[in-house]
Amino acid sequence: MTKIISSYKTIASPGRGILAIDESNATCGKRLASIGLDNTETNRQAYRQLLLTTPGLGDYISGAILFEETLYQSTTDGKKFVDCLREENIVPGIKVDKGLVPLPGSNNESWCQGLDGLASRSTEYYKQGARFAKWRTVVSIPCGPSALAVKEAAWGLARYAAISQDNGLVPIVEPEILLDGDHPIERTLEVAEKVWSEVFFYLAENNVVLEGILLKPSMASPETIAKYTLTMLKRRVPPAVPGIMFLSGGQSEVEATLNLNAMNQAPNPWHVSFSYARALQNTVLKTWQGRPENTEAAQKSLLVRAKANSLAQLGKYSAEGESEEAKKGMFVKGYTY
Ligand code: 13P
Repeated sequence: MTKIISSYKTIASPGRGILAIDESNATCGKRLASIGLDNTETNRQAYRQLLLTTPGLGDYISGAILFEETLYQSTTDGKKFVDCLREENIVPGIKVDKGLVPLPGSNNESWCQGLDGLASRSTEYYKQGARFAKWRTVVSIPCGPSALAVKEAAWGLARYAAISQDNGLVPIVEPEILLDGDHPIERTLEVAEKVWSEVFFYLAENNVVLEGILLKPSMASPETIAKYTLTMLKRRVPPAVPGIMFLSGGQSEVEATLNLNAMNQAPNPWHVSFSYARALQNTVLKTWQGRPENTEAAQKSLLVRAKANSLAQLGKYSAEGESEEAKKGMFVKGYTY
């Protein structure tokens, strides 16, 4: 436990949040294809290098979730990415789940693989410099969710969290309630309460230390934020948990920032911040276009988003002067990471 204390304290530090760039190679390929680039290791490395070497990033970003390939990569000058992060006081993290597959016996639902060999992989990731981990599983409301799918999601998260802590990694616990479906928000609240209560039940059964985990939920839209998202979390998440880092889930960059800002208008029992992928990367990619001469401008656009979310973490953001691009939504039904 003492091994992980400094990591979660750094990650949950005021005015900072997480940059999620742990897209699988296939998903990173989709991002690259959107600007006409091939999905090669060189292009993935170039894109991650742009992001991870942004000067001043550590002012707003406290952690970066990496895909395994990136954890072991270096800049074109031979500097390890993990060292670039450490110099900015950013904690390196690693996605450890092995993705979703169909759950037999359920209502077309899925379960998340990756527990086999997780302890030894975690030991290796720690040696390479990772200090926190991410495991994303999903719950689908239109598909039920069935009791089986909820139990499997919660149990898998709890086993992963225990194994991570045992190996010096702070686990991010992410049961994502998918935004897909036409149900009313009251139904989302009901399902979210059920899922989080099972998650905390199994976390306790697995002797996971709550002070050493971080949560990553999805959120509702600005008007309903205080009423639903925070009400649900306050009912289910003990104040011992140090931080709740929201995912952006396909909202526009500005929407995701406004929502975070709304949730920080009054004091919360936990550090409420961001762990965004799409809502931090969209303008960056469009600005970069794969051209070296655009690198600096793209890094500046990353800083603009990171700073906006830093202000939102402090509850001090205003959307004045935001670009039209930043207001475009990115929701994709059944999105895979
Ligand atoms: P989005 O912010 O694009 O939803 O991604 C968050 C995430 O879980 C990736 O780690």
